Amino acid sequence: TKRVAILISGGGSNMVSLAESMTGDHPARPVLVLANDPAAGGLAKAAAMGIPTAAVDHKPFGKDRAAFEDALQAKLEEAQPDILCLAGFMRILTPGFIAKWEGRMLNIHPSLLPKYKGLHTHARALEAGDTEHGCSVHEVTAELDDGPILGQARVPVLPGDTADMLAARVLPMEHKLYPAVLRNFAAGAREPIFIS
Ligand code: GAR
Repeated sequence: TKRVAILISGGGSNMVSLAESMTGDHPARPVLVLANDPAAGGLAKAAAMGIPTAAVDHKPFGKDRAAFEDALQAKLEEAQPDILCLAGFMRILTPGFIAKWEGRMLNIHPSLLPKYKGLHTHARALEAGDTEHGCSVHEVTAELDDGPILGQARVPVLPGDTADMLAARVLPMEHKLYPAVLRNFAAGAREPIFIS
């Protein structure tokens, strides 16, 4: 059984969908939910599900990303995960940290990559006049929101959509896509999954 650590920054709805999926014959189990914000709402949700939690507040580290990541790494070494899932984790990771986990770290991003890397993806899709939008799960490599795509889910953009309306249409697809990709990945498969 693969051991999975889930990294979050906020409410953790993707974390919940991942954690809930890892039961029965699933090839993985959640062993840690780790946040960079001690107030992240997802920590209480994880604890309520009986998953060990930890927080490493990034703020006291200031600009010293490497020191922050050393503290993250220490928590991870205690939990001994085989796979890291970034799930709404809003800190940029340095190439040094990523190198330690390359090939074992997944991220979900709220756009149809390679479109709209970075922030404000829903607003940018609207601004561009796209008729389709969605989310992607990819392996994390040193380039931001890059790396092999392991799955994508599509939603239509509808007339009158706001960024919030679009986000609300994408999020339930994230909750379907990420567990499907993790199950595949934990089983050793790398064939991408496409959902619409
Ligand atoms: C999700 O929409 C996720 O795709 C996005 O943040 C949200 C987190 O929600 N991630 C990024 O923007 C990464 N740059 P959640 O905490 O409820 O899972």
